Amino acid sequence: EKGGYDYFMLKEIAEQPKAVADTLLGRIDAAGSLTLDEVRIPTSVLREVDKVVVVACGTAFHAGLIAKYAIEHWTRVPCEVELASEFRYRDPILDPRTLVIAISQSGETMDTLMALRHAREQGSKVLAICNTNGSTIPRESDAVLYTHAGPEVAVASTKAFLTQLVACYLVALYLGQVRGTKWGDEIVAVVRDLSKISGEVEKVLETMEPVRALARSLADKNTVLFLGRHVGYPVALEGALKLKELAYMHAEGFAAGELKHGPIALIEDDLPVVVVVPSPRGRSVLHDKIVSNIQEIRARGARTIVIAEEGDEAVVPYADHLIRIPATPTLLQPLVATVPLQVFACELATARGNEVDQPRNLAKSVTVE
Ligand code: M6R
Repeated sequence: EKGGYDYFMLKEIAEQPKAVADTLLGRIDAAGSLTLDEVRIPTSVLREVDKVVVVACGTAFHAGLIAKYAIEHWTRVPCEVELASEFRYRDPILDPRTLVIAISQSGETMDTLMALRHAREQGSKVLAICNTNGSTIPRESDAVLYTHAGPEVAVASTKAFLTQLVACYLVALYLGQVRGTKWGDEIVAVVRDLSKISGEVEKVLETMEPVRALARSLADKNTVLFLGRHVGYPVALEGALKLKELAYMHAEGFAAGELKHGPIALIEDDLPVVVVVPSPRGRSVLHDKIVSNIQEIRARGARTIVIAEEGDEAVVPYADHLIRIPATPTLLQPLVATVPLQVFACELATARGNEVDQPRNLAKSVTVE
């Protein structure tokens, strides 16, 4: 069943290129425009949407955080992302012009289900992004965009996350297309880049041996920190979550710009810090700021583990360990940057003798509040 892999998690990490390609399949036509037939919310309603709210838990919440960057950039519609478990308890402002997106691999997460029920009671339309056909969350939503990751068995979510990202990009681009934004040309270009992204994920998977060796060398550490900016920030959060649940290590993700507001006090000699570096092209201001952050933490003794785009030479002098990822458009970078973090956490869990597919205290789907 595990297809020759020791763990379902390894198999599911390896299946990501296919999962990504399958999730795109049939949704982009030859002319490069999107056809999301399942999104049965009329385009007239989507044109009137004045706010998007994403609700989800855990890894799906991280996909939602990334969706916010894409939705706001391509559609100029304000987007909030909230932990489903917090959402309905704070009396959120919702109305029929709010589009709520509920993201869930299992489709059975009670917190997410309760959040969407609350949203529908206020008259909002709910679009589910879900991996499980016929599960409760899509059944109770107005529309569903299925991710085609195939069954995910390991408790730690990997391929479902990548396909959730793809689905979020598709929704953002579709909303942009339906509503017509000034990013029309960019949308066409990104749709083209999306169709190539499965091959880029494949390339990342082929270069993971040094990441495994690095993970094994850190097996006796207590803490690992993760830093990122822009869409790299939720990637840092996801890297930290994976490490917590699999390696049972103290792991925290920070927005790199927050370092000097507190977290930098945590840096001590030989503390491993993973930094997700934005592309030097495009948002180069952020790139340069992160390079300064890497210098700052290294000067204070951190062992820097840098994830940077191929060709980014500026990071080289400050990286104790350098993990290369292919160049992608800024917003799509999480699709390639997350993969080394999954491999890292999985290998650390193995090195520490933990049960990879079934971490202690956790369940694959959390059907209680
Ligand atoms: O099935 P869901 O996507 O609704 O599950 C949400 C979280 O419980 C889930 O992503 C959890 O955080 C994973 N174990 C993370 O790897």
